Amino acid sequence: MDEIKNEAISMPRIGDAAPAFKAITTQGPINFPSDYTGSWVILFSHPADFTPVCTSEFMTFASMEKQFAEMNCKLVGLSVDGLYSHIAWLRTIKEKIEYKGMKDVEVKFPLIEDITMEVAKKYGMIQPGEATTKAVRAVFFIDPKGIIRTIIYYPLSLGRNFDELYRVLVALQTADAFSIATPADWRPGDDVIVPPAGSCGIAKERMENKADMKCYDWFFCTKPLAKEKIDGLKMK
Ligand code: BEZ
Repeated sequence: MDEIKNEAISMPRIGDAAPAFKAITTQGPINFPSDYTGSWVILFSHPADFTPVCTSEFMTFASMEKQFAEMNCKLVGLSVDGLYSHIAWLRTIKEKIEYKGMKDVEVKFPLIEDITMEVAKKYGMIQPGEATTKAVRAVFFIDPKGIIRTIIYYPLSLGRNFDELYRVLVALQTADAFSIATPADWRPGDDVIVPPAGSCGIAKERMENKADMKCYDWFFCTKPLAKEKIDGLKMK
């Protein structure tokens, strides 16, 4: 335990290039992140196969895979279990588990085997204060250029909120596409934040679009952004 605690653990940061690795998965070998260039990808870890919270998460993620794909986003899971455990667990989910209206759920996205913990350590998924032999629930949002754009960590006992993960993906893409920021609890269709003045371009836009904008003070202005425009980001 102390050995792992004292080991240098790398913790990738937002804005870093996603650390590269090759791995075996339930869908064959992958070369990460280069296999995903041009797509968004969510790389997420779970503590262990055949555990209840992880099962509820996998069923939810698999049920939403199409929704993520519409936003040009692929999913890749990881745990420090072996390939045969992964295969047996995913088969059990498909054949036996009915949960919250989800049944016959097939997990079609790759699940990485990481028995050596090489990838988990590279991505800071082993957090010894929480567990030395399991990955925490980490979520990395990686953009089409292979840059880490958001990182969220959850402890072992806390199942993730997948509506929030989807909201994060849409908000990142919306910020990129429209050069805006998104306020607290933003949902598509809500007003967005016009970045504070500071560049001539933004100052000019402010002058031109004054009628549309609502300013709470000089540093805090919002403007409408129609949900249809955000729906337009979806792949046809
Ligand atoms: C679970 O997924 O249920 C779980 C896994 C590891 C520790 C605690 C809960």
